[in-house]
Amino acid sequence: MEKSMITEVVGLVNFTSSFFTIVALLAGVLVYFYQPIWGVRKVPGPPTIPLLGHLPLLAQHGPDLFAVLAKRYGPIYRFHMGRQPLVIVADAELCREVGIKKFKDIPNRSIPSPILASPLHRKGLFWIRDSRWSTMRNTIVSVYQPSYLAKLVPMMQSFIETTSQNIPTDDQDIVFNEFSLKMATDVIGKAAFGFDFGLSNPNSHQNNDKHTESFIKQHIYSTTMLKMDLSGSFSIILGLLLPILQEPVRQILKRIPYTMDWKIERTNKNLNSQLDQIVVNKMKEEQRGSKDFLSLILNARESETVSKNLFTPDYLSSIAYEHLLAGSATTSFTLSSCVYLISGHPEVEKKLLKEIDEFGPPDQVPTADDLQSRFPYLDQVVKEVMRFYVVSPLIARETSTQVEIGGYILPKGTWVWLAVGVLAKDPKNFPDPEKFKPERFDPNCDEEKRRHPYAFIPFGIGPRVCIGQKFSLQEIKLTLIHLYQRYVFRHSPNMESPLEFDFGIVLNFKNGVKVRAIKRT
Ligand code: HEM
Repeated sequence: MEKSMITEVVGLVNFTSSFFTIVALLAGVLVYFYQPIWGVRKVPGPPTIPLLGHLPLLAQHGPDLFAVLAKRYGPIYRFHMGRQPLVIVADAELCREVGIKKFKDIPNRSIPSPILASPLHRKGLFWIRDSRWSTMRNTIVSVYQPSYLAKLVPMMQSFIETTSQNIPTDDQDIVFNEFSLKMATDVIGKAAFGFDFGLSNPNSHQNNDKHTESFIKQHIYSTTMLKMDLSGSFSIILGLLLPILQEPVRQILKRIPYTMDWKIERTNKNLNSQLDQIVVNKMKEEQRGSKDFLSLILNARESETVSKNLFTPDYLSSIAYEHLLAGSATTSFTLSSCVYLISGHPEVEKKLLKEIDEFGPPDQVPTADDLQSRFPYLDQVVKEVMRFYVVSPLIARETSTQVEIGGYILPKGTWVWLAVGVLAKDPKNFPDPEKFKPERFDPNCDEEKRRHPYAFIPFGIGPRVCIGQKFSLQEIKLTLIHLYQRYVFRHSPNMESPLEFDFGIVLNFKNGVKVRAIKRT
């Protein structure tokens, strides 16, 4: 009797402890999933699906989702990327508040899971934080003076000319974004490392160089694998849904041959060692001069004007690589969008050709000053293209302390993202937003004068604004002037309409921009 009572008691204790273990586990899981949401629960947003958040909505609507939600929930709302809630800001004044007025409380970018898994990308200026970021940024910005940019015109022009000479004009389709990506990579390779990848010139001996070819292939693979949706590697997807498991799973998968994590790890390792080699070689050069970005930073490091502890070789590799990454895909996308939109709008093309022809004979190369003052319509066209197809439709920030935005108290660590793409299509600032109309950027027109000063921010906002803005605009304008001095372009019948896009770390074309070139007489 006594024995069975003891057994019963033990059973009860076992049951109770199992019950409490299960309850504690469930509570742990609930806390894990709801803790990030709790702090921002008062910000409006659609109902969420556990684990997936609003990713199914993103799959349903594509990038238009952010405008759809802004219409329904107002200028500040919640979007859940898997478990991670984002506070989306879709209003120019609120963007000014986040990017400028409250910068001291929101100084860094939130780091998405694909970047967390890649030290090569994480050590660039884009993702580094706080005092390391501000010291490094000050040094880098001091390099990008207008006089330095003006000196880059002949180098940019020589790659543009080589690219242009290789454009076929016999009714052949050109995949323009491939042409422009090769050219932009060559330009930034030379500007960042002083290295000629030789991609714009199919006959270049450098193009046969197996090292260069594999470097570029690896660079493109590594960049396109930085997915922000559910098409990335298994560990990246886990990072969106269950971040706690991302790193342990990545550590396992990177050792299992032929998984995507293994391929990414291998590619990034190779890329890293090649970049380290470039940096080491540059460090050894006695007469390195001061033409490229890496040399300028190394010179500053050696003259002790910047800290050697900060600009260590691994950070230098990442920053130089970041230039290649940031300066190629974005510039190529913008150039290709320009050619696509100008070709589809004969009245814009006519006005642009007139301005370019009035500048001088077809072989006249503009100076940096000419680009500033002699091409006002080209300036409007480029701005309108960048509004029409926004390369970076979302800009990331993270609060480093509790802060109030748009009437909501956001706790420390909240991811606040600026919906630049939604601003660019907001009829309040851009009437008839689906119309391609460069004249809306004419400084004398009412629309431009009435517009909120931060409604158009394709290069970002505040102290974290893009450092390559002037560099890329100089390259884009020089290229368009050179090309339109010689050619006009027409859409190929083999291209889809409307254009389809891929939503990666920056926007890209799904099937390319296919055009045909016609030589001007
Ligand atoms: C059409 C071309 C380009 C576009 C549209 C573009 C766009 C952007 C945007 C939207 C940001 C984020 C700004 C923010 O958070 O407020 C950014 C940051 C950045 N961009 Fe660009 N970019 C372009 C070209 C370049 C080039 C050519 C370089 C390098 C020379 C570059 C280097 C960077 C860097 C290093 C940052 C991080 C700055 C920091 O955090 O301090 N970009 N860019």
